[in-house]
Amino acid sequence: MQWALLVVLGLIAPNVNFNPGVPQSPHLHQVVGGNAFNVTMDPNTDISTTADCTTCTFTEDFSNYWTAVLYFKARNGTFKGVPQKGNVGFETANGGGQTVYYTAYGGSNKVNVTAFKPGFRMLVGDPFARTKDVVSPKFRQLTYTCLKTASTRTGETLYFPNTTCAVGLMSNVRFPTCWDGINTDSADHMSHVAYPTSGTFESGGPCPSSHPVHIPQLFYETVWDTTKFNDKSLWPTDGSQPFVWSNGDPTGYGIHADYVFGWKGDSLQRAMNANCDVSCPTLKTQTIAQANKCVKSMNVIEDIDSWLTSLPVNMPVTYS
Ligand SMILES: *[C@@H]1O[C@H](CO)[C@@H](O)[C@H](O)[C@H]1NC(C)=O
Ligand SMILES: *[C@@H]1O[C@H](CO)[C@@H](O)[C@H](O)[C@H]1NC(C)=O
Ligand SMILES: *[C@@H]1O[C@H](CO)[C@@H](O)[C@H](O)[C@H]1NC(C)=O
Ligand SMILES: *[C@@H]1O[C@H](CO)[C@@H](O)[C@H](O)[C@H]1NC(C)=O
Repeated sequence: MQWALLVVLGLIAPNVNFNPGVPQSPHLHQVVGGNAFNVTMDPNTDISTTADCTTCTFTEDFSNYWTAVLYFKARNGTFKGVPQKGNVGFETANGGGQTVYYTAYGGSNKVNVTAFKPGFRMLVGDPFARTKDVVSPKFRQLTYTCLKTASTRTGETLYFPNTTCAVGLMSNVRFPTCWDGINTDSADHMSHVAYPTSGTFESGGPCPSSHPVHIPQLFYETVWDTTKFNDKSLWPTDGSQPFVWSNGDPTGYGIHADYVFGWKGDSLQRAMNANCDVSCPTLKTQTIAQANKCVKSMNVIEDIDSWLTSLPVNMPVTYS
């Protein structure tokens, strides 16, 4: 089986404390991609024409990719941000960044995928989920990998592992791969996309008739450098694990991620058609050092680096 994997490295621009369209987000996020990201993003604006730099390695990619951020909760109840680190091959990325994969098709039926359109946006996951039955089967493939080495890629769990991870904790987000073919967004940012009716994208599962158009599989890998918290004497005494998402989730089930499409012109479609494998000669690239220069200041100034008495935006930690 031939996988068409387009790997985009997005470095972190700032830690930005908002959701587009909402003056201040209910919880802290990290954003990578083009610098058109803003508190309000007009869905009728093609951000590939308004951004003027990107933290991605492919310079025609002004999309925005974002996730919540991870905190360590100490025994005394204070919180400390968990730094990110670069994935294998991207160790010099500013702030660690995020690796984004676009896969052109899965399975043996070799379905061609249709690239996203300007204004396309989607969200996957439920920040309020705290149990498996809420996340599964509604969201598939939102997982964690406890890294024994930088290249560990097995043993994914749906929840935060309750053991220390020698090299760090990787969060993995795979988005739905079927589109209704009409709407670039929806009120919940989800209804316009769907998972295959059976199997997975990887196994070539068919799209439902309501969402017949195969779109590339978007997949984020984010590596959290949990290693400085590996001393078990810092961990909770009840045997639970100490990490929480900025959305107040101590279980891991509340993992979620957002995407706003922003590739220039037909560049993503060309890359998908070219069946690129990791590198892609049809696309223009920049070095990590060049990408590191694309920065944007924080929209909401908050202390996110010291030991905090509460999560940013006073987000409570909730167990149900
Ligand atoms: C961001 O949005 C604000 C408020 O809508 C606007 O004033 C500002 O010009 C925008 N900045 C950029 C870089 O688009
Ligand atoms: C809370 O615990 C952390 C980790 O042990 C420590 O660094 C910090 O100083 C403590 N804060 C207070 C107020 O005791
Ligand atoms: C997919 O696209 C390729 C190249 O554009 C084309 O040769 C092939 O026939 C297409 N396959 C299907 C199933 O449409
Ligand atoms: C750790 O997680 C495993 C798998 O979910 C579970 O069986 C075990 O009870 C957990 N241990 C603790 C101390 O929570």
